[in-house]
Amino acid sequence: MGGMTATASRLLPLFLLLAVLVPAAAAAPPPVSVRYLADRQLFVLDGGPVTYVVGVNERGELQHVYWGGRLWRDDDLRAARSMPAFDSTEPGTNTTPDEYPGWGGGRYFEPCVKITRADGVRDLVLEYDSHRISGDELVIRAKDIASDIVVFLSYRMDPSGLLRKQATIENHTGQIVTLESAQSGAWLLPPGDGYRLSYLSGRWAGETLLTREEIHPGIKLLESRRGVATSNQANPWFAVDGRGRATEEHGQVWFGALAWSGSWRIAVEQTPHQQVRITGGYNTFDFSYPLKPGESLATPAFYAGYTDGGFGEASRILHRFERRVILPRAGLAHPRPVLYNSWEATGFGVTEANQAALADRAARLGVERFVMDDGWFGARDSSRAGLGDWVPNRKKFPNGLGPLIAHVRSLGMDFGLWVEPEMVNPDSDLYRAHPDWVINFPGRPRSESRNQLVLNLARDDVKEYLFGVLDRLVSENDISFLKWDANRHFSEPGWPERPPAEQRELWVAYTRNLYDIIDRLRARHPTLEIESCSSGGGRVDLGILARTDQVWTSDNTDAFDRLTIQDGFGQAYTPRVMMAWVTDVPNFNGRTTPLEFRFLAAMTGSLGIGANLTKWPEADLDYAAKMVAFYKTIRSTVQDGDLYRLAPPGGTLASVKEYVSSDGRQAVVFAFLHSQQYGRPQPAVRLRGLDPDAVYRVRSLDGKLAEKLETASGAYLMAHGLTFDLKGDFDSTAVVLERE
Ligand code: DGJ
Repeated sequence: MGGMTATASRLLPLFLLLAVLVPAAAAAPPPVSVRYLADRQLFVLDGGPVTYVVGVNERGELQHVYWGGRLWRDDDLRAARSMPAFDSTEPGTNTTPDEYPGWGGGRYFEPCVKITRADGVRDLVLEYDSHRISGDELVIRAKDIASDIVVFLSYRMDPSGLLRKQATIENHTGQIVTLESAQSGAWLLPPGDGYRLSYLSGRWAGETLLTREEIHPGIKLLESRRGVATSNQANPWFAVDGRGRATEEHGQVWFGALAWSGSWRIAVEQTPHQQVRITGGYNTFDFSYPLKPGESLATPAFYAGYTDGGFGEASRILHRFERRVILPRAGLAHPRPVLYNSWEATGFGVTEANQAALADRAARLGVERFVMDDGWFGARDSSRAGLGDWVPNRKKFPNGLGPLIAHVRSLGMDFGLWVEPEMVNPDSDLYRAHPDWVINFPGRPRSESRNQLVLNLARDDVKEYLFGVLDRLVSENDISFLKWDANRHFSEPGWPERPPAEQRELWVAYTRNLYDIIDRLRARHPTLEIESCSSGGGRVDLGILARTDQVWTSDNTDAFDRLTIQDGFGQAYTPRVMMAWVTDVPNFNGRTTPLEFRFLAAMTGSLGIGANLTKWPEADLDYAAKMVAFYKTIRSTVQDGDLYRLAPPGGTLASVKEYVSSDGRQAVVFAFLHSQQYGRPQPAVRLRGLDPDAVYRVRSLDGKLAEKLETASGAYLMAHGLTFDLKGDFDSTAVVLERE
């Protein structure tokens, strides 16, 4: 027994007994396990609460086997067996749940790859060839039955259960193979009907609106055909729940998001045999990507997960994953700074003097980053001219940007600058010098939108030029932050310098080169931070979030409208990246909301101010300074905590959001009332995510709680809840709970 004490030696038999009786408790499963069951030709990927299984059936095809809650017993898993034909119109190839189908051999659902060979043969039937497993990644090599077209399917399992699928298609034949569809993967739900799809759709100034509808036989297409942007119209996120219907807190939800900022596509399909398939990747619309012998194309990554904890838990899994895996490390090291942006205050009319005056006011409020928006460069007095000429306008900044930046820095803030590098006004020096640099079809109109054209980033010379311009701008000025905007989408998407058969590579090459410019810029300037913007929230997805620190959620800054936009945004994306500004009223919507409502709505994400502070009365400035100081006491919880959507926006009852810090020491609750109906009591709202055994100190921002609590237990707050004393129109409040 060596140096063991007498007490320890008396307890040893008990420990040994417990070890025999409860081996399962002692041996928690590894968070991630990826393995091959050779006897059944099954690949099993376990991650946290999720298991995903794919198999090789007796025909050698890859077949989906299982996706759902974590399984612990391999004996439950049976080898994949193809399905029989239903009748002559439904061959077994069409009833079998294919994992990654090529288009060929009698398949009528969405393929993952569709090709045309130079000799005209279009049939592609993929079979398992080999695989390798390294740590959390499985790579399966699949190959066409009769030619050397090879697909590498990469599966990487995360401890959260989020699985990353990505495919690389290689042409090892002796002829050109043109890809007409290249998808990242397909997600198959347990067979059955009655599923419901949740997705985010909208428009400019009304992005990420949550929509729910039944999945019926046929295909529902979520997509961007816009080239430049993920789009304001639809966002590449989905969630599906089943017959029992999930709620925020309970129920099975399968959810996912695609990492691509150009033209993407997610097809949600229910086959005649009640198989729901969710296939996503490059948009097939106008897609054509020739692979010469030896060439390959990699698809975007498509992430998906599963929970039985409802829509709320699905969002939290994604949020944590974005912060842990996706977002750039440097920007994660500190909370998002409180930002000021000049756009709504001065528009294109920026000058050194008016920006300095705004900066003075912003600094007084506690703002940490001052961002000068559009209008500072070239002949940019309106949207009609100057775009592309990234040199300070001499009239507005006679001595360059240096004096303004020095002033901003002297006020203790860092400096950010708006750019729209991908675009050009025809009335610009850049366009006059390089009219061939824009995307165009020769002999066709060059349609303008906001008086601008799109530079062809797919061209290496354009890419190098833009990198050089941005690198110089950031090297020669003390710039900490770029707001990277993109305000129009593709039209006439030609690439005349390339042979006609290769011109449509533009859809892929443009976005890849955009990523490349940003990646290189960040590598050269490791402390530079970037906000992704495309006419508001038009470029938000896991691809751009891997290289930007935050996004401009929407050009709609109306605090009430924002509650709905932000609620949808938060389904998929962490509040850390969700920029929200306090702006002036009445706003473009003609609505006037109280300053408290505007501040609290913005504080549910990363706080910014976009108002003309030089016109604010002293009382508002003092109030704003207090609100900024308040935000700084809760922002880590909001930005990096767990979000609970306690009551949705839009009804006659208060809409309520709760955030719980990752260490559980603080929780923050925001409540917003659109309009009170006289005499109608507000129901108590039960909190979530607290420790029932802990006691919390209750700090109300403004005393608008029906029950004046000094302290309350987690059990009480979660079982009984808080009742907000909100009245009239656009009333709001916040409550902070500190664990004692
Ligand atoms: C569109 C952006 O969404 C706005 O915030 C602003 O930066 C303008 N562009 C500037 O032109």
